[in-house]
Amino acid sequence: MKVALAGDHGGLKLKGQIANFFKEWGIDYTDFGTFSEDPVDYPDIALQVAEAVQSGDYERGVICCGTGIGVAIAANKVPGIRASQCHDTFSARAAREHNNANVLTMGQRVIGFGLARDIVKVWLEAEFQGGRHGPRVDKISLIEQKYNRCSR
Ligand code: RB5
Repeated sequence: MKVALAGDHGGLKLKGQIANFFKEWGIDYTDFGTFSEDPVDYPDIALQVAEAVQSGDYERGVICCGTGIGVAIAANKVPGIRASQCHDTFSARAAREHNNANVLTMGQRVIGFGLARDIVKVWLEAEFQGGRHGPRVDKISLIEQKYNRCSR
């Protein structure tokens, strides 16, 4: 599984920790930045991961910012992206099993690195359950189509 990883200045340290987890777990990932504490605009960061996943080059994406909120809002503007902010493992599992979330967002100012590690692990390992959840996720794509956007 290829994972696109990014974070703004508010999520820089958390992104670095997640990169370390990926190395430890043997996850194939690309770090799209940012690479310093200099302030950047979180929509720019979110867009890089969202487009990487939308293109099909990456199966999943993980984005960090101060809260995990701004990057989720921005990423979800890209057709085919189902980004979910998760700050607990129950939500992380449900985001995959029920919502087929392909992007995970987290906030460095909200959770510690230990919890983030567990969340990322659960989220990477959980699979979409399909079944009754399939048509519901399909309806998300229909909303995109209603507003004349392509989806994958
Ligand atoms: C940056 O200060 C902060 O606004 C950003 O990281 C994020 O939390 C936005 O949602």
